[in-house]
Amino acid sequence: MRLVVALTGASGVYLGVRFLEVLKEHKVETHLLLSRQAEDLIREEMGISPEKVRGLADFAYNEGDWKAPVASGSFLHQGMVVIPCSMKTLAGIAQGYAENLILRAADVTLKERRPLILVPRETPLSALHLENMLKLARLGVIIAPPVPAFYHRPRSIEDMVDFFLGRILNLLGIPNRLNRPWPHSSGL
Ligand SMILES: Cc1cc2nc3c(=O)[nH]c(=O)nc-3n(C[C@H](O)[C@H](O)[C@H](O)COP(=O)(O)O)c2cc1C
Repeated sequence: MRLVVALTGASGVYLGVRFLEVLKEHKVETHLLLSRQAEDLIREEMGISPEKVRGLADFAYNEGDWKAPVASGSFLHQGMVVIPCSMKTLAGIAQGYAENLILRAADVTLKERRPLILVPRETPLSALHLENMLKLARLGVIIAPPVPAFYHRPRSIEDMVDFFLGRILNLLGIPNRLNRPWPHSSGL
């Protein structure tokens, strides 16, 4: 399986970094796109270098790499996940405004009718954010905010994130043990 994964400049870049680790564990080929702002947040929020994150992927591109394969519909893949997805990138995808490689790759994923999953991170949400999400949902895009569950009794942020990432793997049809179905996950 081959996936395109984009990290943008919303808080919670750990979600995307951990997602790359999980995909590696599940033997998925990853094509990583990092926005400039995501690179800054990786340094700020995690204290690690963007290079280290690139090292988790099989292939990695910058937002200005227009010659990257993911810019073309002829490059076959099984879906794209934007995690975390900033409101700016969400708006760009909703408008078909493909001014960087992430927006172009999402635009291509849409036109090729492949799965596109966005993990938007913002709170509270304005009517504009919600309208953009509704527009995309109606086009078949999966909007999956990183909302934590509590019924599996998480003990750490890592527990919460892994449980959420299991949901994303489920959406992509990747069997996993991160997200065990209710009610067994609670142990009750
Ligand atoms: C520390 C920091 C945290 C941010 N967190 C968010 C966020 O959670 N959600 C969001 O939509 N934008 C957030 N932003 C703003 C985006 O980074 C900004 O809109 C940027 O243009 C997004 O560009 P990109 O989507 O190309 O990465 C944050 C910015 C900074 C500096």
